[in-house]
Amino acid sequence: MKIHIDGQLLDEADAKISVFDHGLLYGDGVFEGIRMYNGRVFKLEEHIDRLYDSARVICLEIPVGKEQMTADLLATIRANNLRDGYVRLVVTRGVGDLGINPRLCPKASVIIIAATIKLYSDELYKKGLDIITCATRRMSQAALPPAVKSLNYLNNIMAKIEAHQANAAEALMLNEQGYIAECTADNVFIIKRGTLFTPPVSAGSLRGITRGAVLDIAVELGIPVVVTELTRYDVFVADECFLTGTGAELIAVVNVDSRPIGDGKPGQVTARLLDGFRRLTSTTGTPIFEQEAAPVPPNLSGLEEGTSAVGLVETAASPY
Ligand SMILES: Cc1ncc(COP(=O)(O)O)c(C=O)c1O
Repeated sequence: MKIHIDGQLLDEADAKISVFDHGLLYGDGVFEGIRMYNGRVFKLEEHIDRLYDSARVICLEIPVGKEQMTADLLATIRANNLRDGYVRLVVTRGVGDLGINPRLCPKASVIIIAATIKLYSDELYKKGLDIITCATRRMSQAALPPAVKSLNYLNNIMAKIEAHQANAAEALMLNEQGYIAECTADNVFIIKRGTLFTPPVSAGSLRGITRGAVLDIAVELGIPVVVTELTRYDVFVADECFLTGTGAELIAVVNVDSRPIGDGKPGQVTARLLDGFRRLTSTTGTPIFEQEAAPVPPNLSGLEEGTSAVGLVETAASPY
């Protein structure tokens, strides 16, 4: 495996960072997890934009521009000869002293790892997940906005530990007001009477890129979408529930806190959205290899081009 560190492609054995890096010492840094499908990187521009937004919020100056970052990321994938897989893009505060002072870290470090990842078994993707609500609350906006994808994931890890202790696959995290925020590394959706609901980012979730893609797909399929605060009650009485994330992709939830969701099986609307998601991931994205043919935009509605009555919501401009 070849790993990119600060402009150099290194063999895995030589890919090392300093023990004084504040990414390690304090979780001081930001990151992205990005998937590639069928020779194309899915929603690359959105991931790069979110990385720079996260960095801006924590006053971290990324030493390369977006164009160079994109080129380095694509070069790392090519060096590992991957067409399908997962890229971890990390920017740490860099090397400093043993105090937390970020001003004593003169240069941020960029690390790019291109590999593969599979979070759940094929069986779980078919059957759906059993999850719990955990006692660990999603950290407040006032502490650190959960929309910042920072290297400090202890809040989420504490929740994941609770899930494991309860023999559940995932943990539903509430915010301090008791509204649903998200799961430990996924956004949450429910479906009630044909309408798709998800919490707003202000409830304490990451502005998930998979979430944005699913909202766009729902609009294109003519499925009504409501972004609003949700409670555990709303989840218990939902007809369907599913999670989205770059790692997990789209996976049904069939049981929450020992209550079956709907009929306890992955639902029809979830299946339609999953189908739309698969079509989108396999036909769009930034080509990794130059000879890759131009992507064919999917017609998710199943209608003739131009006859769809519902416009696609651009994620970047989306009010959600
Ligand atoms: C806390 C958290 N929420 C949600 C998500 C899903 O976001 P995305 O779809 O951009 O991967 C992730 C994963 O990246 C995450 O870490």
